[in-house]
Amino acid sequence: MRDPKRVAILISGRGSNMRALVERANGYEVVLVASNKPHAPGLDWARSFGLPTWTWDSKGAGKEQWDQALGQALDDHRVGTVALAGFMRILSPWFIGEWRGRIVNIHPSLLPKYRGLDAHRRALAAGDPVTGCSVHLVTEDLDAGEVLGRVEVPVLAGDDERSLEGRVLEAEHLLYPKVLREFVRR
Ligand code: GRF
Repeated sequence: MRDPKRVAILISGRGSNMRALVERANGYEVVLVASNKPHAPGLDWARSFGLPTWTWDSKGAGKEQWDQALGQALDDHRVGTVALAGFMRILSPWFIGEWRGRIVNIHPSLLPKYRGLDAHRRALAAGDPVTGCSVHLVTEDLDAGEVLGRVEVPVLAGDDERSLEGRVLEAEHLLYPKVLREFVRR
């Protein structure tokens, strides 16, 4: 039985959102951290926190094989909700179908604006006075699933990509645990 309150977090990199989800867990439990990058820095933190981790380098692995192996790891840990946090791999339609409605992601823009990469660069280039971040359901279409929560962040004079990313990340770290808590109850 998949228990929605048992959450797996998928990362590819530093995992600051993963940390926020773990440290602010409320109403859900993080039972697994999985990665397609065996050297993702976030994995070290997860291990040091005593969390189970699963990893298989996706480079060279067949797309469906990798996704099926991940699915097996999720079932082994009785995971019911999958939270992507800087996970830089497109999941296969098979996996998304298998976990439909149970996969969420955080994206650094006010969706539906700036789906895909370089959201901060695009917000700066457009001269937007406000940007933000969104938590959304994952579907087959990139960053296009139902938006579950968003928060606005001002763009300040003199902002560059780095400063803007830092300010939006702080907002992400508050938004994601809050939305996940509500999501696992629905
Ligand atoms: C965040 O900006 C998130 O919105 C995006 O990827 C970045 C991941 O950062 N999906 P981190 O690994 O959580 O620090």
